[in-house]
Amino acid sequence: MKIWAIVLAAGSGQRYGGPKHELDLGGLPLWKRSVSVLESAGIDTVIVVGPVDGGIPGGARRRDSVAAGLAKIPDSVEWVLIHDAARPLITRRLVATVVDAARIGNSDGVIPALAVTDTLKLVDGDTVLKTVDRSQIAAVQTPQAFRTRLLREAHLIDPEDDATDDAGLIERIGGTVTIVPGDRTNIKITYEGDLELAERLIKGLQDE
Ligand code: CTP
Ligand code: MG
Repeated sequence: MKIWAIVLAAGSGQRYGGPKHELDLGGLPLWKRSVSVLESAGIDTVIVVGPVDGGIPGGARRRDSVAAGLAKIPDSVEWVLIHDAARPLITRRLVATVVDAARIGNSDGVIPALAVTDTLKLVDGDTVLKTVDRSQIAAVQTPQAFRTRLLREAHLIDPEDDATDDAGLIERIGGTVTIVPGDRTNIKITYEGDLELAERLIKGLQDE
């Protein structure tokens, strides 16, 4: 089974205060960490979308950047992994968990997910409306794996509609998506301070 990966590094980092992909984490730019983990996990080819060495141009929205990557993938590639460069602490183990579930082939998509441990509130501004039942909520990460053909189809539907992940697009066209255990250290660099958190996590891993 042929599997390629798309690493997304074309965002503008509005919430962070500037682009994140070239930030240094332990001597490597963020985007290169993900590429090297995916390659060492046995992914056939890794395409990087973004203004980096060897990257292809992205689009205005995340889904446009995914579409740019998909356009480079031949039809013979059955599964594709989509990964955010903003998650530099991806591990080979997590890639293997996602890929193994994809190989079993019970669904059209496989995504890593975590149970939410915080209590969740529905709010309006700073007013609490009610407590949300968290037992049916999962927080999802990347890498996410999809049947390439179906993801291409999903991207053709409702092009104006935005989606924060590709599983959302697959769900909309009635595809099946299953979850596998995510990794608590696979954080996303979103806000200022998240990079320092990642540095501490890396250091902790090295000290082990
Ligand atoms: N991304 C992309 N192309 C876009 C938007 C996002 O390739 N047009 C990528 C980002 O580079 C990032 C990933 O999608 O690796 C997840 O997005 P996010 O964390 O939201 O990053 P940004 O969109 O850059 O940040 P923000 O939403 O705060 O602007
Ligand atoms: Mg974004």
